[in-house]
Amino acid sequence: MQQVTIEDGGRVLTLFDQASARRRRFHAIWLRDNAQDESTRSADNGQRLITLADIPLDTRISNAWSDQSRLYVTFSNDTTAFAYDLDWIDANCYDKKHAADVGRLESGVETWDAKLQAPVADFAELRESPASLRDWLWQIRRYGFARVSNGPIESGALLQVASWFGYVRSTNYGEYFEVRTEVNPNNLAYTGLGLQAHTDNPYRDPVPTMQILYCLENSASGGESVVVDGYRACQRLQETDPDAFGLLSQYCARFEYVGSGGVCLKSQKPVIELSVDGRLQAVRFNNRSAAAITDVPFDLMEKYYAAYRRFADIIDDPEMAVSFKLSPGECFIVNNTRVLHARSAYSGEGSRWLQGCYPDIDGMMSTLAVLESEQFE
Ligand code: FE2
Repeated sequence: MQQVTIEDGGRVLTLFDQASARRRRFHAIWLRDNAQDESTRSADNGQRLITLADIPLDTRISNAWSDQSRLYVTFSNDTTAFAYDLDWIDANCYDKKHAADVGRLESGVETWDAKLQAPVADFAELRESPASLRDWLWQIRRYGFARVSNGPIESGALLQVASWFGYVRSTNYGEYFEVRTEVNPNNLAYTGLGLQAHTDNPYRDPVPTMQILYCLENSASGGESVVVDGYRACQRLQETDPDAFGLLSQYCARFEYVGSGGVCLKSQKPVIELSVDGRLQAVRFNNRSAAAITDVPFDLMEKYYAAYRRFADIIDDPEMAVSFKLSPGECFIVNNTRVLHARSAYSGEGSRWLQGCYPDIDGMMSTLAVLESEQFE
């Protein structure tokens, strides 16, 4: 049973769990704002129906008590007894030690290097089995990368993969784009040269959050796909050279793509992006579309370049790379804010044809959350 006390003139409610000796505090204004009743939250979709202006600034708790499963609270300016599920209160408690480590990872994320056993799933099984789809998406959230095998060898099949979990973002390259050898290429991805590990399109803001690359032909020799965990690269940089990590996360780089057809895309973002409270949020690394860096102070520019070079060396370290050759009907998907991809050079003999698209990660996370809340055989 929870012991409930009102403190500080009704500003604060304290729950004390005698069994665990755990004490948790909540503010009156927070409790009122998070009331679960039908006048505060829509019974249909849980959306809040009141605004901040509906809550008096001097809101105080006038009475509070609990039973086995619920906490009840009345406020000084209202006769309603608001009920809170104690499990919900537990899950949303903010009176705790907040992680402050700079460069920390979101829970459920695990970094990897060349030793990763690449997650792979069968196309038909993902299409037919929600449990298989859930497990595959879980791996994408965890590793930022997964593969699909045994898919159809038909143009546009990558859109089927995207449709299982979300929505594709159209860009100036279209709903999806072709990656194949072309005469007069206007983008290096369309030539037979190798490509250094990179994240796609850092010149966009917002940046594409996921990418699917789907193989339709791959008879040329070489042309292996390579993926590198950018978060692991960040961890290695932070461990071995924290000042370099600081420089790449505290100053903006610039990225630019000026293409044919009236495209002029520019962004100004750090190579290593942290959230305001220090969580690792995104990696942008693409030498081909890096514009002149102008946001680093003069006295730090040489140090910045040394840090940038150190980060590039970590990314290029073979111990970081997972390599594989895609066969027709196979694809891989990456979290483009985390995992870099590369391609080894391939010869002009035979052909290599991939199609790519940019699904948004919020739709993927939504589908995963729904699948995780359901029970499967
Ligand atoms: Fe790419």
